[in-house]
Amino acid sequence: MSTLTADDFFWTDAYLLGDPGMDDTHREFVALLDALLRAADDDLLVCLDALAEHVQAHFAQENAAMERSQFPARGCHIDEHAAVLASVRGVRARLADQSDTQACRRLARALADWFPAHTDHLDSALAHWLCKQRAGGKPIVLRRHVSGLTADND
Ligand SMILES: [Fe+2]
Ligand SMILES: [Fe+2]
Repeated sequence: MSTLTADDFFWTDAYLLGDPGMDDTHREFVALLDALLRAADDDLLVCLDALAEHVQAHFAQENAAMERSQFPARGCHIDEHAAVLASVRGVRARLADQSDTQACRRLARALADWFPAHTDHLDSALAHWLCKQRAGGKPIVLRRHVSGLTADND
């Protein structure tokens, strides 16, 4: 068991939504963001590029599911994706053009703060909607102990 530090960002089953595709995508997001948070200055660009590529596909996947299923609240969710993607691209340009490592590190912390609430509010509503369309009810989610703020996820 380890204690959280400012640079830790790890998967917890609190993020599980019960939609296997979305959950796999979110695990990948968490791993890539954790790598960015831990990266040395020389590795920031390659880590940010990997995260940017993921985020583009991640948001496109959710946006397509919202459009395909005519999810009623899709407007604000799609707008939030667009704003985050624009921030990632803007910081990527500053990092590549001006070596602005501080902007990159601020973005990484902001994404770590943003992801739990986005997942809890917007993505969970989408997962429920998709499950209701497929199976007529909410997804059943089995979470391992999620109450402690530790990195012990076994
Ligand atoms: Fe998501
Ligand atoms: Fe989302």
